[in-house]
Formats: sequence, C-alpha cells, structure tokens
Amino acid sequence: MKKDLPNPRRPLVAGNWKMHRTASDTRSLIQDIVKRVERVSYADLVVCPPFTSLPAAHETLGRHSILTLGAQTMHQAKEGAFTGEISGPMLREFGVRYVILGHSERRQYDNETNEKVAAKAVAAVSYHLRPIVCVGETLTQREATETEAVIESQIHASLAAFPPDQIDELVIAYEPVWAIGTGKVATPKQANDVHHQIRKLLVKRFGPKGADIRILYGGSVKPENAVDLMSQPDIDGALVGGASLDARSFFDIIESVRPPRASDHD
Ligand code: 13P
Repeated sequence: MKKDLPNPRRPLVAGNWKMHRTASDTRSLIQDIVKRVERVSYADLVVCPPFTSLPAAHETLGRHSILTLGAQTMHQAKEGAFTGEISGPMLREFGVRYVILGHSERRQYDNETNEKVAAKAVAAVSYHLRPIVCVGETLTQREATETEAVIESQIHASLAAFPPDQIDELVIAYEPVWAIGTGKVATPKQANDVHHQIRKLLVKRFGPKGADIRILYGGSVKPENAVDLMSQPDIDGALVGGASLDARSFFDIIESVRPPRASDHD
C-alpha cells in the first residue's frame, strides 16, 4: 500500500538549463539561486543543468537541500554499449532526483519517441528518479485542432508501462512546442484547458489518485506571465527554460506559486 502524501500537488518549479552553463559557470549560478530561494518553503525547487555541470552543482549545493537536482534525459539501461548515453545510477551518484523525459527538443532532434519515454519512465522510478514526462503539440497541430488528440496519444503511449504504485513519483509537463523559446506563451485558459484534459487522462489511466499527479506548464514562462499562469486551478508549477538561467527571474517565477495564505517568513 502506498502512503498518502500530505500535499500531493505541492507546487514544483523546475529550471531546464538545456545546453547552457559550463561547470564553472554553474557554481556561481547555483550560489545566486540558493541565496534567493533559501527561505522558500511552499514549493519544491529543481534545477536541471547539463550532465557535465551536475557534479559542480552537487558539490556547490553541499548540505543545502532547498534545491534538488534534475537531469535533462537518461538512458533506460543500467549500463551497456550505448555510446554517449548516461544511466540512472550514474545520475544518482551526483544527487540527481528528477529527470526530464520526452522534452520536445529531444523528441525532435534525438528521436526520443513515446516508446522510449515509456521505457525511460519505468527505468527512472526503478532508480528512484522522478520522471518529468513532457508532452505538447506543435503549432501546425494546434491550428489543425489536433491538440487534444496529440496530447491523448502522447500521455497514453508515454505512460503505457508506468507502474501505478509509483504515481507519487510522476510529474507531467505540458509544453506547447510553439511556446518554447519563442516568447509566445499559451494564454492561462489555453494552458489550463490542456492541463485539465491531462488530469482527466491521468484519472482514466490510474484511477482517482491520478488526479494528484503534478502537471507543470512550460513554454516562455517569465516573471511577467507567471502569476496568471500559476493561478490556474490545474497548473501545479512551471518548467522554465531561458528565465531559469537568471537567478532573479527564476526566483520571481518561484514566488508566483506562493499560496496566498501561507507564509514562508516564520
Ligand atoms: P523557455 O522557457 O525558454 O521557452 O523553454 C521552455 C522549456 O522548454 C522548458 O523545458
């Protein structure tokens, strides 16, 4: 039997650094972020630097547990003849607890298919890594009113083998491809509509507990649009690209998930 988490939809803000920041640049960015977020108690905070920066990030964080490390992808096998790949146990060694899977850039440039994402998600939880499974439609698909169908098939196929007793570990990110790095952001309603659909699909797939799976929005999230997006009922946090490379804007986005009643200054 799985335990019930006290607040299963606790806000989560993750920074996806993509292919930015060398190991030496990573140290100062991590220090800047930690300084700003030290007193944040209302959200889980994750940063996903490139593989080569993970050791520097891990070392810089030291005993600070306010920031958790994530990776940007992983291979599903434990080890083997897979040139250029990184496995779950290799990530764990550097304190990594989350792993982004099926990001649209990996789907587009590296053939990270739904089937691979499904296998990676199962492998991730077996290594105690929390998968952040990304889905999202392209502009052409949205204009052809195919968004719902695309999301349904991505959720269905990417979670095909996911063990239902591990859904506490699972995070979904909705990232409309047309909003990534373009400065074009989904309206809060457009985003929430898709999040709502995803939540229904998760309930269909996993039963009522599926409603507790956190769903993040990603795609040009900036301090200026974060409050409106994060106040939507089905949006549980953000997966931030460009704006997560600046400690100040990352912090401002984090503040947008602060619950109105809660205080982090006690
Ligand atoms: P931007 O925030 O730079 O649009 O990137 C979003 C993203 O792809 C996060 O994974």
